[in-house]
Amino acid sequence: MDRLYISDILNDSFIDKDVTIKGWVYRWRESGQLVFVIIRDSTNIIQVIFEKSSVDDKTFEIAKKLTIESSVEISGKLVKQGKAPTGYEIQARTIKLYHLAEPFPITKDKSDEFLLDIRHLWLRSREMTATLKIRETLMEAAREYFKENFYHEVTPPMFVGAAVEGGSTLFEVPYFGEKAYLTQSSQFYLEAFIFSLENVYTIQPSFRAEKSRTRRHLTEFTHLEAEAAWVGNQKMMDFEEELIIAMTQALIERRKEELNILKRDIKILKNIEKPFYRYPYEKIIEIGRSKGMPLEDIVDLGEKEEREITADFDKPIFVYNYPKVLKPFYHRPDPEDPNHVLCHDMLAPEGYGEVIGGGERIWSKDELINRILEEGLNPEDYEWYIDLRKYGSVPHSGFGLGVDRTVTWLAGLDHIKNAVPFPRTIRRLKP
Ligand code: 4AD
Ligand code: MG
Repeated sequence: MDRLYISDILNDSFIDKDVTIKGWVYRWRESGQLVFVIIRDSTNIIQVIFEKSSVDDKTFEIAKKLTIESSVEISGKLVKQGKAPTGYEIQARTIKLYHLAEPFPITKDKSDEFLLDIRHLWLRSREMTATLKIRETLMEAAREYFKENFYHEVTPPMFVGAAVEGGSTLFEVPYFGEKAYLTQSSQFYLEAFIFSLENVYTIQPSFRAEKSRTRRHLTEFTHLEAEAAWVGNQKMMDFEEELIIAMTQALIERRKEELNILKRDIKILKNIEKPFYRYPYEKIIEIGRSKGMPLEDIVDLGEKEEREITADFDKPIFVYNYPKVLKPFYHRPDPEDPNHVLCHDMLAPEGYGEVIGGGERIWSKDELINRILEEGLNPEDYEWYIDLRKYGSVPHSGFGLGVDRTVTWLAGLDHIKNAVPFPRTIRRLKP
């Protein structure tokens, strides 16, 4: 490749050499016979200096009228410069102006709401750029881990005919005179795939008509889901533990600079080691009560409760075997304790709370039909799902990991909206 990126030339081997970069004006300042410009590209930033005495008049005129976000190509000599933000400087010789930007609307101290309104432009910020790279690395590391473990990537449909996670958060869409829904989870389809591919995963959007406005709910989120034949609840937790460690390690190794831009302390990430805590549901209720929360014996923990419970933990916590009444019908009741199901949630530490939900699935046809009826649902809506239990059914487990919540946690962000390029919430569909 002949294109040089800024990160390529921030390097002693280019000192005194002629370099050419392409990018956007990030900062601009004039001081008498000098113009200082910081240029950014997708990789980093670099200072460029235009000296009136060293460039021709036309070049200096262009440099003097540059505006923030103007797109340029600049050539000049690279020198070391301790005072420059990334330690080097280009002494410009020529500039080609591609586009002189109009006044950029993002200046210092804009409100969070404003930055969401112009997200299409805020994507260029160093914070967002760092976050996007962190997201990418986490998904990349997950894919690598799945591959090492003989999982196949599949692509289930997004238009579906029935609820997976309960009717209250279903998005209905008109579908040629019929009703369709946007999928809440690809789980049921992944269960169909295991009879051919055994171990499968997908990274696709899921949709929930979430009315709750919390720091961790979106209406469209990126869902990493996996399903495996012949695997039980505890084994699935082992697998997830290693997945989280593989993702965290990749972040520490490949995204130091980005974590630094977001001021995320790498020491905290280094604490994320095996074994994670594993508590039965009742124990987590006890922990909540010990912190002064008035919790009933059986209660669906919300964002606030999980935040308090996990605040002082340094590593994730698996909470397993929830009371049956708290979970959807597909979870397999514990044969030794049928009021509890063989499931788990993984709660992230530091107050972040639930990041994964998973467990073992009912694999007997009759037991499944009974649970569907018990929940007041119609078995006809789940015909093909029940069908999977008729032909060589096997024990199997799976899980769903919220990618956006994982980014929020591992990057140390304060709100899920900051982990997503174009967040979708009850009040936001634009840009
Ligand atoms: O716990 P949930 O609802 O579980 C399922 O959907 C299972 N069917 C997954 C499976 O076993 N294949 O969702 C799984 C995860 C949650 O732990 C959370 O991280 C994320 O998906 N999630 C959301 N993330 C952002 N906004 C929302 N509204 C979310 N709802 C769930
Ligand atoms: Mg859940």
